[in-house]
Amino acid sequence: MGHSVPPLNDQSLLKSQAYVNGEWIDAKSGKTFEVTDPSTGKVIGTMPEMNKEDTEAAISAAAAALPSFRKTTGRERSRMLRKWYQLMVDNAEDLAKLITWENGKPIADAKGEVTYASNFFEWFAEEAPRIYGDTVVASIPGNRVYTIKEPVGVCGLITPWNFPAAMITRKIGPALAAGCTVVAKSPGETPFTAAALAELAHRAGIPKGVVNFITALKNTAEVGETITSSNTVRKVSFTGSTGVGKLLMKQSADTLKKLSFELGGNAPFIVFDDADLDTAVTGAITSKFRSSGQTCVCANRIYVQSGIYDKFAEAFTEKVKGFKVGGGYEEGVTHGPLIHDRAVSKVEKHVRDAEEQGGKVLIGGQKMPDLGDNFFQPTVIRDMTADMQLAHEETFGPVAGLFKFDTEAEVVKNANDADVGLAGYFFSRDLQRCYRVAEALEVGMVGINTGLVSDPAAPFGGVKWSGFGREGSKYGIEEYLTIKMITLGGMGQPLQGS
Ligand code: SIN
Repeated sequence: MGHSVPPLNDQSLLKSQAYVNGEWIDAKSGKTFEVTDPSTGKVIGTMPEMNKEDTEAAISAAAAALPSFRKTTGRERSRMLRKWYQLMVDNAEDLAKLITWENGKPIADAKGEVTYASNFFEWFAEEAPRIYGDTVVASIPGNRVYTIKEPVGVCGLITPWNFPAAMITRKIGPALAAGCTVVAKSPGETPFTAAALAELAHRAGIPKGVVNFITALKNTAEVGETITSSNTVRKVSFTGSTGVGKLLMKQSADTLKKLSFELGGNAPFIVFDDADLDTAVTGAITSKFRSSGQTCVCANRIYVQSGIYDKFAEAFTEKVKGFKVGGGYEEGVTHGPLIHDRAVSKVEKHVRDAEEQGGKVLIGGQKMPDLGDNFFQPTVIRDMTADMQLAHEETFGPVAGLFKFDTEAEVVKNANDADVGLAGYFFSRDLQRCYRVAEALEVGMVGINTGLVSDPAAPFGGVKWSGFGREGSKYGIEEYLTIKMITLGGMGQPLQGS
């Protein structure tokens, strides 16, 4: 290991191998890849660079574990998930340290993520014993019809680096609750958190082969294709970009897999004249700058009505002045680095493009080389227009572009002028407008007078090019179940002796 993470309370959570069939293993080729700390750029360790062969071995392990795991009762699976949840709670500090180390987010945010992540296990531990079928009134006399729900089978789960723990638990929680076994491809940028979760799964007594974690960076596409083209894998759940989602969907076509995709967003965030200014500013700060703008539900286009525009711009910029950017372990740091220099380049491109087209930078706008290659100043730009790149592409970084609008109809039209539709937010104190605009926005999730909609109890997912399927909530488990209908014929006999 190179630059070291502050010592963990339990050093055995720091693994540098993949976890397949209940064992810690290297890639069959012996190859590894390096993982770097986004704050310092230093190598922090290595993980196995797995390939097709390794992925197929993990799929076989999951397939071998399926027949007995799918027969466990919901209550048994609930207890396993609850144990895993408790181990996450008990080891929260170490998990947070790992997240900050490889993702860069400040330690307070990382702790928040561990809570968020573990809550998916708690939620689905409660769903596991409550998987119901229906009794159906048959149209054919003498027939009796009912349904049962069954696990889909082996699932391939592909998750991103922006929430190294929560995106994994949001998929594994419902998969295990449903009785599926999984092959999870951990993010190349943040595999250590995933490996610590695997170690906790082991300690929780999850049977071997039920949960398998494979690792790859350069070979990510090869691993993805092996998962999507396998006829043993019956379902794929993916969180990531729309471009990769489309590719995985094409690759899954030949084997007709069940799919759920949580893809890119370009969230509109609307502040009407009648909004409470402080609430709207606080909501915008939360929504835009959470994880330094690196979430799929971050506000991307901030539309502010003309009557409140100047006041909002001033108060919002004032709040941003209070941020402290730096390494995630540093005292008082509110915002960390971006994940890599490609992310920084995209952010810079959006800022320069906005400036060239008349946008006025109120704060920030520059890289922060004194801190490191991956830091960018939290930025606010006013006088944004619809032709600018930021209006059409998800920035995925700490840049808040403020667009001015006059009417409700105009802003809803602009908000919906996007191929994607994940989250949308607006601020208003007019009850009728709240209903009207919430129903008019073409998104899967709406936040009214709040900048945060993420909650294990609430269905998470999008429409249009943001994907399909829902995670968390009572709906999340359905993505891992199929309905089997059973008809009993000849049941309409008269009572004996009548
Ligand atoms: C994401 O960025 O994909 C997830 C964000 C969240 O769960 O809040």
